[in-house]
Amino acid sequence: MTEEGARLSELAKRRGFFFRTAAAYGGVAGFYTYGPQGATLKDNVEAAWRDRFVTREGHMEVSSPDVMPEAVFEASGHLDGFDDMLVDCPECGASHRADHLVEDATDVADAESMSPQAVGELIAEHDIACPACGVALAGEPVEEFNLMFETTIGPGSGSAGYLRPETAQGIFVEFPQLAEYARNQLPFGVAQIGDAYRNEISPRKGLVRVRAFTQAELEHFVDPEEDEPPIERVADVTLPLYSAQAQQHGGEVRELTVGEAIEEGVVANDWIAYYLGVATPWYERIGVDMDRFRYRQHLPGELAHYAADCWDAETEVDGDWIEATGFATRADYDLAKHAEHSGEDYSVFKQYDEPIAVERPTVDPDMSVLGPEFGGAAGEVADALRSLAERDPDAFDGQEVTVEVDDTAHTVPVEATGFGIEEVTESGEHVRPHVIEPSFGVGRLVYTVLAHCYETDLVDGDERTYLALPPEIAPTTVGVFPLMDKDGLGERARDVERELRAAGLAVAYDDSGAIGRRYRRQDEVGTPFCVTVDYDTLDDHTVTVRDRDSTDQKRVAIEGLPGTLRSLRDGDLAFADL
Ligand code: GLY
Repeated sequence: MTEEGARLSELAKRRGFFFRTAAAYGGVAGFYTYGPQGATLKDNVEAAWRDRFVTREGHMEVSSPDVMPEAVFEASGHLDGFDDMLVDCPECGASHRADHLVEDATDVADAESMSPQAVGELIAEHDIACPACGVALAGEPVEEFNLMFETTIGPGSGSAGYLRPETAQGIFVEFPQLAEYARNQLPFGVAQIGDAYRNEISPRKGLVRVRAFTQAELEHFVDPEEDEPPIERVADVTLPLYSAQAQQHGGEVRELTVGEAIEEGVVANDWIAYYLGVATPWYERIGVDMDRFRYRQHLPGELAHYAADCWDAETEVDGDWIEATGFATRADYDLAKHAEHSGEDYSVFKQYDEPIAVERPTVDPDMSVLGPEFGGAAGEVADALRSLAERDPDAFDGQEVTVEVDDTAHTVPVEATGFGIEEVTESGEHVRPHVIEPSFGVGRLVYTVLAHCYETDLVDGDERTYLALPPEIAPTTVGVFPLMDKDGLGERARDVERELRAAGLAVAYDDSGAIGRRYRRQDEVGTPFCVTVDYDTLDDHTVTVRDRDSTDQKRVAIEGLPGTLRSLRDGDLAFADL
């Protein structure tokens, strides 16, 4: 762990941002509990996300269960394809991500995209040893390990269920219902903030790779033929883009505006470009240092089983780039799979402005010919002819047409198929939407913000540590202190505290120790403002308001103080303008 990582976990534990779960029992890798500061910081990041990606975009929000039946994940492909490569140490029994071992020890950048066999060969070739005990791993089997936590639903053996590995499936599986709520009008977006679970082989790096984590996901359903994003709203936003091509050919991050990125084809999907444009100022808003930030496109072998393209928002923390958000084009992968597995309709019916006349191929096979010719397979041959007519009417142009049933080719005279073209009037069509998915890891953002907002400076010759958290997401907005806890100052400060709490402000009251130490305590957890009640307060009904970052202080009337502090928190007023 680097200095930054060590500093972060020390501060996180000591001041109650996050700590290992169940330490009394030795802890359990990959599980963290957010303490009083961290839980509020996380809530505030989620609220800022909801404000930007749900409320302001006009999307819907749902909340689905953490456990889902097996059928959902059979359809989604997670049961079969949501695996990481595992290698176990024969000596100490430690389990490792085989692809990560290879990436750490060699020049290979995307071992994840290789086969387990190829990764096993690289382990042997490079003589890679167990990081825990140093024993050689050459020859140990590299296996696919499914990351989902399995459970049973109901007593007894019950039926199989899984903790969701992504909140997204709770949205996709309900699409028919959600489309109705959207009055079958594309495009529409459905968001969900909730926990997801992955049985990671080797959890690591604080909140970065954990087994239970919170996602904030948006599934935006669009008509791929017609819907366009409102690019003009974000066209001038600058994006630091690290394309797959640049990664493969020694290129670098390029700063392009959203408009340029689309024009040059660097970001191929306009909706993805739109969301990168929406997200960029949002990261800044929650305290991400944009000098330690980039968008990196997935390499072809790196894409998840459902993704056609993906850009990750990455933040630099503790010497590594970590994926904080994935912006993926999932096309119609999930809806098609759920339609196929459930037999339900996962499309929307798009009404035309005017009904239109269309020519439609029809087939009405003559069963008195097909029956004797194909026996028990005659019905299936007839179905195959109907489906071929829809797909490829030209196949009926000759004297005969051939269809396959159960790997056997059957040739039928065209005149026995009853093939024809009829004209019908259609009032609309079924469209299977494509999905654009910005998927945010909330814990990784909290971790990033803590790392990026960590500052030190000198105050009155002493080193000070403070978290320069944006007031909107700081766990506490205002510390309230009586200068002394005597002569009625404590009572007056308690009155101020009550008034500020009643106005919906997050307040910490502190009357212990020297005032300087109280400021430092609040600085360390990122409280942006502190109010001190002193002897002048008793006479002139004013208090000092102190700004965390500049340490400047101003005298402010108690009357109107809650409104002033709310404006400072919400960014409607700058401290300098007080
Ligand atoms: N829904 C995308 C992910 O969980 O990675």
